[in-house]
Amino acid sequence: MTRNELIERLKDPNPSSMKALMEEAYRVKRENLGPKVFLRGLVEVSNLCSKNCYYCGIRRENGKVHRYRMSDEEVFRAARWTWENRYGSLVLQGGEVSSPEFVRDVTRWIEGIVRLSGGELGITLSLGEQSLETYRRWYDTGAHRYLLRIETSSPELYGKLHPQDHSFKDRVAALERIREAGFQVGTGVMMGLPFQSLENMADDILFFQNLDIDMIGMGPYIPHQETPLPNMDASWTFDPVRQLTLGLKMIALTRLQLPTVNIASTTALEALHPEGRERGLLAGANVIMPQVGEGVYRKEYLLYEGKPVNEKSPQEVREEMERRLASIGAVIGYGEWGDSLHARNRGAGARR
Ligand code: 5AD
Ligand code: SF4
Repeated sequence: MTRNELIERLKDPNPSSMKALMEEAYRVKRENLGPKVFLRGLVEVSNLCSKNCYYCGIRRENGKVHRYRMSDEEVFRAARWTWENRYGSLVLQGGEVSSPEFVRDVTRWIEGIVRLSGGELGITLSLGEQSLETYRRWYDTGAHRYLLRIETSSPELYGKLHPQDHSFKDRVAALERIREAGFQVGTGVMMGLPFQSLENMADDILFFQNLDIDMIGMGPYIPHQETPLPNMDASWTFDPVRQLTLGLKMIALTRLQLPTVNIASTTALEALHPEGRERGLLAGANVIMPQVGEGVYRKEYLLYEGKPVNEKSPQEVREEMERRLASIGAVIGYGEWGDSLHARNRGAGARR
């Protein structure tokens, strides 16, 4: 699709076009990638963050958050569970910290996870902007995929969503370092942000295409009261139905444009609708990231309001998810890393 076609389809308010779009994207997903959905156990390793993004509930200046970093034991327990339950891979996600101590912690976690799973568990990192040296160190230790959302592909909008010292250029440069270190590269954006136009969102899809991205995680913006953004644009109001619709449309259009990438159906969709994540899969996504870490930390990792917090055990989370996936005819790719076909075609981050 051209930019104009993407914009037209984003603008189209007709529910029957929306339905047709979902069906088309789901068909393209099945034709290119089959019925499989891959699981990543999501471990929220730390909510310490040196950044101050205007939209995020764990931004540095939110003093109401109790900050934590998981112990080695906690990380390894989650990893062992993920491996034993044949999820295939896990994601270590956390706020952005680049102290030598944190870099060492992460390196040790990667080593430990490789060891405890005999190299079987795939390791994805989502730990913000780091130096090339750090990215190389983590890659060489055994991680092979890295997620760093660009948040928006518009430098101008990026400037409105972040304090001055957060640089769009630096973030794009970090994505390039991630690629240079050897990782499969993941990025993503938020949809339905204050100040954001449909044109901006069409450009987001073209950004993924131009950067030859392997995997995408994107979700609708959901306001958080302890952050500045909800009060910055007087013309913006929170409409959950609009946010969900935009989220699903963006997943579907991205699938049509990039048939072989991995696309995650993210938790923000579930925050807007109890079946949001299933609907994401039906819109062409092929990855789900169920939380596997200790339930006690979940309430401290609230990026936005209404983020599903439960203290269910990973076992309960898994059973519920299996039921839901079966109900939409999806097959879980147990025990597989589930690299994107796009990454395999370009030979990136392949370790087995
Ligand atoms: N609504 C939706 N997503 C958010 N994120 C941060 N804050 C919000 C919010 N209020 C997303 C960002 C970040 C990821 C970890 O969570 O895209 O990259
Ligand atoms: Fe930190 Fe990421 Fe939240 Fe920004 S979005 S404040 S970098 S955790």
